[in-house]
Amino acid sequence: MARTTFIGGNWKMNTDRQSARALAEATARAAANLPIQVAIFPPFPYLIDAAAALAAAGSPFNLLLGAQDVCHHPNGAFTGGVSIAMLHDVGVRVALTGHSERRHVFNESDELVNAKTRAILKMPEGGREAGEGQLACILCIGETLEQRRAGQTDAVNRRQLRAGLAGIPGEAVDNGRLTIAYEPVWAIGTGVSATSADAQDAHAKIRAELSAMYSHSVADGIRIQYGGSVKASSVAELLAQPDIDGALVGGASLSTDEFPAILRAGAAKAAGAIA
Ligand code: 13P
Repeated sequence: MARTTFIGGNWKMNTDRQSARALAEATARAAANLPIQVAIFPPFPYLIDAAAALAAAGSPFNLLLGAQDVCHHPNGAFTGGVSIAMLHDVGVRVALTGHSERRHVFNESDELVNAKTRAILKMPEGGREAGEGQLACILCIGETLEQRRAGQTDAVNRRQLRAGLAGIPGEAVDNGRLTIAYEPVWAIGTGVSATSADAQDAHAKIRAELSAMYSHSVADGIRIQYGGSVKASSVAELLAQPDIDGALVGGASLSTDEFPAILRAGAAKAAGAIA
C-alpha cells in the first residue's frame, strides 16, 4: 500500500507568540501544493494564533495543526489539563502521545500513554459521524542509550507499542488515524541521528509487530516516522528506506530554511524520486 509521506514539526517549548505565528505561516507556504502530509505542533498557548496563521496562508489541506500532548479525561477537575474536545475546538486535528520528553522528563507511564492514545483513537459512539470531534494520533516510542547498549532496542519498542495500543482495535488505527514515531531517545536533540540502516531495521520490526497485533493489511497502512536529530542534510537517506514513511522533526522544524528543505525531501520521496 502506498503510505502518504508524513512530516511533523514538533516545536516543543519554543517560540513566542509572534514567532509562532510567523513560523506557522512560513510552514504553510512551504507545505502548500506538496504531495505529502505535514503537521505542526506549537505550544498550547499559541495554537489559536497558529490556526489563524494557517488560515491566513490559505489553509493548505495537507497541513494539520497538532497538539504536543492531551489530557485523557473529557472534562472536570483536572487542573492544567487540556481535553481532546478543547483541542479539536481550536482546530487541532492530530496529537502526540508518549513523546520521549513526556515519558522521561514528566515520568509518564506506559499506562498513561495508553489512556491518552485510547482517548484520542476511541471509536465513534452511536449516532456520531465517524471522525467527528476526533483527532489522529502519533504514538512515539523508542529506546534510551542504556537500553540500546544492553541490546534491548526491539524489546523496548515492542513493549511500548503493545502497551501504548492496548485495548485499541484495528478499526481505530486504520485509515491513517494512527502514526507511529520511532524516536530513539539518544538521538533526540543530540545531533546524532540513527543511521538509515539502523532506523530501517527498527521500523521493519515495528511494522512486523503491528502486523502480529492487528493484521498484515492494517500494519501496511500505518505510517512510521523516524525522529531524532533529523536535518535537511540527512533526511533524504532516511526517507529512502522502505519502512520510513516520514519524520518527526524537533529543532530543525523551528528553522524556516531547514524545515522547508525537509518537506521538499518528503515530496521527492512521495514522487518516487528517492524511494
Ligand atoms: P530533534 O529533531 O530536535 O532531535 O527532536 C526530535 C523530536 O523529539 C521530535 O519529536
